[in-house]
Amino acid sequence: MKKAAVVGLQWGDEGKGKIVDLIAPGFDYVARYNGGANAGHTVQIGDEVFKLHLIPDGIFRTNAVMGSNMVVHPPVLVSEIKGLRDRGIEVTCRNLFIDWRIAVTTLYHLRREAADEEARGGERIGTTFRGIGPTYENLRGGFNLRQLVNHEHEDIVARNLREDVRFRDLKLKDGRKLTVEDVLAELEPAREFIGGFLADTHILIRVAQSVLFEPGQGHNIGIYTGVRPFVTCSDPTLGGIGASFGYQEVTQRMGVAKAYSTRVGGGPFLTELTDGVGEWIRQHGNEYGTTTGRPRRCGWFDCQEVLEAVKHSAVNELALTHLDTLCEIPKLKIRTASGKMGEMGPWRNFDHGTKTRSGLPVNAQAYIERIEDELGVSVTVISVGSERNQTVMRA
Ligand code: IMP
Repeated sequence: MKKAAVVGLQWGDEGKGKIVDLIAPGFDYVARYNGGANAGHTVQIGDEVFKLHLIPDGIFRTNAVMGSNMVVHPPVLVSEIKGLRDRGIEVTCRNLFIDWRIAVTTLYHLRREAADEEARGGERIGTTFRGIGPTYENLRGGFNLRQLVNHEHEDIVARNLREDVRFRDLKLKDGRKLTVEDVLAELEPAREFIGGFLADTHILIRVAQSVLFEPGQGHNIGIYTGVRPFVTCSDPTLGGIGASFGYQEVTQRMGVAKAYSTRVGGGPFLTELTDGVGEWIRQHGNEYGTTTGRPRRCGWFDCQEVLEAVKHSAVNELALTHLDTLCEIPKLKIRTASGKMGEMGPWRNFDHGTKTRSGLPVNAQAYIERIEDELGVSVTVISVGSERNQTVMRA
C-alpha cells in the first residue's frame, strides 16, 4: 500500500494544485480531506487553465475522492462537475467518489456568514463567503449529502430556520426574510444529480492500493494551527486526514511552500511587504485569490513559521513553488528559523525550461540550499513556472 500526502506549509495558495497534478499519476486515488469551495486549486495544462474549488485536481490524472470532513454547497459542486464536462474532462461516478457523510452548506450558512462578517466591521476575518465557517460551526445541527438526496433534509432546514438563533431571521440580499422555501429551492436542482456520486469513502480508502491525500488551505490558517479568529474552520495539516478517513500510515509527506509568503484575508503576517517590492511580487506572481479574486498580501519567506508547519505534519520532503517570481528583485530577504532577517543574493535571466537544479542561477540554488538548511528537509520539487513542464523534479 502506498500512501502519500501533500500539505500546505504557509497560508494556503502555496501551489499545491500543480504539485498534486504532477505526482497524481502514480496513485489510484487523490483524496481531498478538508474544507469546501473556499479552496482554489489552479492547474494549467498546455494553454488551458482549470480552477477547481471542490473536486480534487487529481481528476485530470486519476480517480478523485472527496472525504467526509469536507463541506459542500451542492450548486457549486454541480456547476464544477458540469463545467469540467463542458471542457471535455470525464467526470462520472467511476472516477469521482463523494462521501455521503459530507455536511451540506445551504443558503442560510451563506447568509449567516455575510451577516457575521458585516457585524465584525473593521475586525473582519476576510472569509471567502462560501459558507464554510457556519457549516463547520453547526455540523451537529446540519444534514449530510445522503439526507439531502433521500429528501430527509426538509425538517432539519425548517428547524434551523425556526429554532436556531444563529439562523433565525436572516435576510436575503434584497432585504427579504430568508424562508425554508428559498433554502430548499436552491438545493433542489442538485439533489438527484449528486446522488449518483455518493460513496462510502472510508471503506474505499481502507482497501485502496495507493492514495495521495490533499488538503484545501495551509497550516497557518488551520483551525488548530492558525491565529484565531483569522483561520478557516477545518484542519489542513497532516492530522486532518484522520478526520475524513481515519488513521493512515502516510509514508511520503510532501510539504509545499512558495519561495515567498502570501496571505489573503486578515491576520498577522510578520514578513509582509507593504512597499513596492510586495506589489512587484503580486504582479509578477499573479497573486490574486483564485476563489475571490482579492489581491494577496505578499512578503518574504518565513523559515520560522514554515519550520513549525514542517514539524507539525512531519514533512519529509519539500516542493518549492514560484521560485521564478523572485527573479530580478535586487535585494532578497528571508526570515530565518531563529526569527532573524537575513539577506540573500539576487538572480536574473531565469531559464524557465531548466530541468536540473544546477541549471538554475547560482544565487537561486543558494536560496534553495538556505531553506533546506533552515528547515532540515530536502527540496525535491522546484516549480519555475505555472505549466506542468516548468518543473525541476527530484531536484
Ligand atoms: P473561510 O475559509 O472562507 O472561512 O476563510 C477564513 C480565512 O481563510 C480567510 O482569511 C480566507 O482568506 C482564508 N482562506 C480560506 N481558504 C483559503 C485558500 O484556499 N487559500 C488561501 N486562503 C484561504
